[in-house]
Amino acid sequence: MVITSRVRSLLAVLAAGALTATVPGTAGASAPSPVTSQQYKVTGATTTLQRTQVAQTGAAIDILRADGVEISAIPSEVEAIKKLGFKVSAPLPKPVTPPTASAASYHTYAEMQAEVDQVAAAFPQITRKFVVGKSGQGRDIIGLKISDNVATDENEPEVMIIANIHARERLTAEQALDFIGQLTKGYGSDKRITDLVDNREITIMPMVNPDGQVYDMTSDTQAGRMWRKNREGPGTDLNRNFAYKWGCCNGSSSSTSSETYRGTGPESATETKVLANYVRSRRVGGKQQIKMFLDIHSVAELVLWPFGYTMNNTVPGSMDVDDENAHRTIGREMAQTQGFTPEQSSDLYITDGTTDDWTWGDQRIFSYTFELGGGSFYPPPSAIETQVQRSREALLRLTAYADCPYRAIGKEGQYCAA
Ligand code: ARG
Ligand code: ZN
Repeated sequence: MVITSRVRSLLAVLAAGALTATVPGTAGASAPSPVTSQQYKVTGATTTLQRTQVAQTGAAIDILRADGVEISAIPSEVEAIKKLGFKVSAPLPKPVTPPTASAASYHTYAEMQAEVDQVAAAFPQITRKFVVGKSGQGRDIIGLKISDNVATDENEPEVMIIANIHARERLTAEQALDFIGQLTKGYGSDKRITDLVDNREITIMPMVNPDGQVYDMTSDTQAGRMWRKNREGPGTDLNRNFAYKWGCCNGSSSSTSSETYRGTGPESATETKVLANYVRSRRVGGKQQIKMFLDIHSVAELVLWPFGYTMNNTVPGSMDVDDENAHRTIGREMAQTQGFTPEQSSDLYITDGTTDDWTWGDQRIFSYTFELGGGSFYPPPSAIETQVQRSREALLRLTAYADCPYRAIGKEGQYCAA
């Protein structure tokens, strides 16, 4: 018979299957296993410089501990970290979580959509749901605008809050949904909330990486547990894919299997493009309407502000003394209410291509990253309320400052006079 290329590739698949089915140690060596990351404890990395050294290998730093950090890393990154002289533990066990959420647990992507729909139906005067764009696999990235006269684009300072850009950081979507609940339920009864809804345009996007989120939460194999990136090809770390100083500074990885893979170019990932296009679309008449941006992560208990790509606190032309002072003052004020640590993001470790470096560096929007608590990426559902309430006050203050962040340093006259 004629061996067509179809048959040939079928034979190749069968041969590969036969190889991987053999006993490890024999043919296993010739069958490449996919490079996947695991979690480790790195002892001894406690300073900014040491954390940056660890991050420069491409490993993702997940949790800060008193004597070191917990990371997600591929084998080559583990080797590089050991070479630097740090002690790396054996792989930590992957947390076992139920493949689907129950009613009393974390929202699935479908449950998040249902909740946003329900809020939009219950509060039609002050909420409007919209599709920001489609993910790589074609899922809707959902946004909810909250404001009085919500159908009108009024001349009010805009606030943009995104969550769950890293798939496994489940608490972050809960925080976003909780804030939606606070603003809508409090409208008309709580004076402070009513004033904010009347005088701001607040847009909340609870799951901006839906493909990763679905893979992390509902994949019935262990492969999806602890997923961080998006789901295009090998997966891109969306928080290293933004178009400001992309890949500039060893703050992301060029290795496709790394947890901090920066993608093939700035905004190469579909979800990055969707978010950046949305932000650019809010430039109306040459003026960026969004005045305050927040990207919610977990679990290091931090409030961070730009820049992440450089250790310098100020940068001529892009972060002057007043910009830095205002960012720091508001950051500290928020962190105080949360019991979190406030710092410039590079004090954690150097990163490049992050959301907040772009929103400030390129768009001049005051920008923050929260790292919520909870102790792990999957705290027990019973911990959701405790963790989420910690950041409620900070979210209100962030929203309030959107009219003039420079008020925090007493310079509203100079920067925000009518
Ligand atoms: N855990 C976050 C990440 O690795 C923190 C990033 C901090 N830096 C920043 N510029 N936001 O993506
Ligand atoms: Zn994160």
